[in-house]
Amino acid sequence: MVSSKEIMIKDNEYLAAVYKRKPVVIQEGTGAILKDVEGKEYIDCLSGISVTNAGHSPQRLVEAGAEQLGKLIHCSGLYYSVPQTLLAEKLASISPKHLRKVFFCNSGAEAVEAAVKLAKKYSVWKGKAGSGVIALEGSFHGRLGLSLTLTGQAKYKVGFGSFAIYPGVFHAPAPYCYRCPLQYPDCGLECARRVKDVIKYHTTGDVAAMIVEPVMGEGGIIVPPEGYHPKVRQICADHEILYITDEVQTGFGRCGSMFAHELWDIQADIMTMAKGLGGGMPIGGAIYTDEIVQCLQSGDHFSTFGGNPVCCAVALENINYLQEEGLIDNSKKVGDLILRSSKELIDKYEIVGDARGLGLMIGIEFVKDKGTKEPAVDETQALAEHMFGEGVLVGTGGVHKNVLRIQPPLCISDDQAQQVFALLEAGIKKL
Ligand SMILES: Cc1ncc(COP(=O)(O)O)c(C=O)c1O
Repeated sequence: MVSSKEIMIKDNEYLAAVYKRKPVVIQEGTGAILKDVEGKEYIDCLSGISVTNAGHSPQRLVEAGAEQLGKLIHCSGLYYSVPQTLLAEKLASISPKHLRKVFFCNSGAEAVEAAVKLAKKYSVWKGKAGSGVIALEGSFHGRLGLSLTLTGQAKYKVGFGSFAIYPGVFHAPAPYCYRCPLQYPDCGLECARRVKDVIKYHTTGDVAAMIVEPVMGEGGIIVPPEGYHPKVRQICADHEILYITDEVQTGFGRCGSMFAHELWDIQADIMTMAKGLGGGMPIGGAIYTDEIVQCLQSGDHFSTFGGNPVCCAVALENINYLQEEGLIDNSKKVGDLILRSSKELIDKYEIVGDARGLGLMIGIEFVKDKGTKEPAVDETQALAEHMFGEGVLVGTGGVHKNVLRIQPPLCISDDQAQQVFALLEAGIKKL
């Protein structure tokens, strides 16, 4: 049997070190539990960064993938294929009614680029120049050229020169109530109104699209206040700007409904998806209205691997599984439980500044001082290490790197959630 140590040494030798890994070699997983090569178990509270919503390797997904592997592994988008067509049909049936035409790619960043690229084409088709795109400060949309430019966090861009700064991208303030100098609801949703200022003062008025995460994930699990999304959506409609909802992280039950933006009763023109779509298989996509895809000509966009038959077969089974096993309801139920307990920590501990989330997308923000809200970065890291030592994998993130992320598979049980929470509170006490 290969040991963790051997793998870590080889990994350091042969892999480009783009990210510092946690010192664990994961070998297998079932439900919300992961096991390393030595057999130690972990409760997974990050789901491979919000990917394995159905849990790790459910039998139905494994069988769907194995069956498709035996039939056809790849054929490219030059030809029709059964799994791709059936998955597109399924996506059209679970998406808001007006979103009907799917483009498949392999990741979230590619989905974002496909969404914005087609929005630009549509805007040119409608007689605009198609130059401007608005995103939010604190947002995350990926690490490719355009998606990295759209990402509203400088920390991801440092050291890459002009690659990370395309022209025509503008940022509006994030709906980050905890760190806003104004108080909701007295603020009158000033952050939403500021989108109008961005259009007026920063752009030439020629804006193809605005892209918004329903809940900002990498930015620190930021849930916008009530009324924010409808107001921004209305501003976009008033200015004939396409509204793109980036559901890469929030989709497929993560927030307690199939897609999170539906919780605000708004209609997006384009929706992106990836992460939770494939149950762990690398697949992403964007879904458009019939009207938008009218601008397309053959060859306008393509991806060699996009819509791969094995990925599509597993993704289709994954969505059926999420629905049939009631995992989206479980996301809401267990998510509410964890959030309620997390909010109680605010009054109990000086270091807990805020707790927020929707469904099983929960963030706890740590501060050195409740008055100054100075981010407790080292303490957040120490808490994540403590959890790791106790056999729980959590994430850290946020604009200020002081948010602990709890995003387990949606099949996590009440008991597992309570166990995680007890370990978390013990860790906070220790801090
Ligand atoms: C909202 C959002 N969009 C896009 C992306 C990029 O996804 P990927 O890492 O698959 O390229 C992410 C990744 O975290 C995300 O959270």
